[in-house]
Amino acid sequence: MVATTSTGEGWSSRSAFILAAIGAAVGLGNIWRFPTLAGESGGGAFVIFYIACVFLLGLPLVLSEIFIGRVGQTDAVGSIRRVSAQSKASPNWSIFGAIGALAAFLIVSFYSVVAGWVLYYAGVMGGDLVQAIMAGDPFRGALAGESQSQIQQRLGDMFASPGLLLAMHLVFMGLTLYIVARGVSSGIEKAATYLMPMFFVLLVGLVIYGAVEGDIGDAIAFLFTPDWSKLTPQVMNSALGQALFSLSLGVAGLITYGSYIKEGSGLGPTSALIAVADTCVALLAGLMIFPIVFAVGLDPAAGPTLVFQTLPFAFQTMPGGALFAFLFFVLILVAAVTSSISLLEVPTAWGIGERGWSRPKSALIFGTGAFVVGIACLLGYNIWSDVRPLGFWSLFAETDILDTVDGFTGKVMLPVGALLTSIFIGWKADENLLRATTGLSPLAFSLWRFLIAWLCPIAVAIILATGLFPAIL
Ligand code: PHE
Repeated sequence: MVATTSTGEGWSSRSAFILAAIGAAVGLGNIWRFPTLAGESGGGAFVIFYIACVFLLGLPLVLSEIFIGRVGQTDAVGSIRRVSAQSKASPNWSIFGAIGALAAFLIVSFYSVVAGWVLYYAGVMGGDLVQAIMAGDPFRGALAGESQSQIQQRLGDMFASPGLLLAMHLVFMGLTLYIVARGVSSGIEKAATYLMPMFFVLLVGLVIYGAVEGDIGDAIAFLFTPDWSKLTPQVMNSALGQALFSLSLGVAGLITYGSYIKEGSGLGPTSALIAVADTCVALLAGLMIFPIVFAVGLDPAAGPTLVFQTLPFAFQTMPGGALFAFLFFVLILVAAVTSSISLLEVPTAWGIGERGWSRPKSALIFGTGAFVVGIACLLGYNIWSDVRPLGFWSLFAETDILDTVDGFTGKVMLPVGALLTSIFIGWKADENLLRATTGLSPLAFSLWRFLIAWLCPIAVAIILATGLFPAIL
């Protein structure tokens, strides 16, 4: 067994940890994936079921991961091993830390590619805003003079250009690598302290803009009026998967961040705060996007292109659209940075803790590796568009490279990680250790134990089974 070295790094305060953890949770998942799924799944029923998943399944898992890191004080594999030792459980449980680190590595590879699209759109909208200002009309709509099909064509043109996609991916991954290489308190924490306040200001500004200029009433009705007939097994499955993804669960991210907590307990309220903040941001993202979509009579069920094709067109017809479209893409970019650093941090911490590498070396190895995997993902949009990496598996028979990496991590690795975490905490971890470290009240503790030992494993096993074998639905 490789000796585990504690990295010795840590957050400078409790609020720094909370901010960084919220930064990790809030990302493309909230602003791009959540509205997309809510739109496709018909709104209210999906949203209400999603909220139930977050609090009944997600929150107990958030607390579990932070607990493991808090006790372990090192990378995910080493931390689980330490909790196992103190609980007289097998050290082999640390395997789910390794699965998590691998999943985080794979996710950051395509996350950076998608964030690269956002970067490109921020650039396009920034250029458009500059033109508007030069023309003396800074409050005009976005992309003035372009037809709807020209605006939609921009996405296709971007996908057709490997060089453009590569350049954007390089910039985004380079930034992620740079922050992670600088370390926990002078890199990750600093990025979160600057970026998260900026994110919240932008978000609130854009929600107010949507409420004033758009159709907030229709958006609220769409998001919160349930039509239970729309709650099909597939919709429940995607709501559960989205809750795991959005809270960054199953990739050992919160184990890793939790390991940098040096003292104090209060893990329960901290976990709740993370879950509440992440959910509020997802709902606010919905309340920002749908009023704009409805105001111009567009289709909320546009799918993944909602943000890249539907919204830019909506911004065209709205006053101040050029300015707010630019701010919108900056907002997504900011959210994506604080998430991608949390993803790259998981394998980086593994290299430091389990292999004894220096931080810059570890970050460079995994950052470069993820960059290369990302290149394959982006080539899947053009020269390798007919490559189907897992084509032999019916579930992935039709999916391109990026969707395969996304689907395999999201449908297989993340739920496996969450399942093993819940079994480990629910059945293997020492009860006194759990009680002492979390500092929960007796009632909260019993509730947590029930959810983590029973509801989580059963529900997550169902997601996994229905995700892998859709035919049983
Ligand atoms: N939670 C992030 C988001 O919503 C994505 C993520 C998943 C980050 C897993 C870390 C780990 O965008």
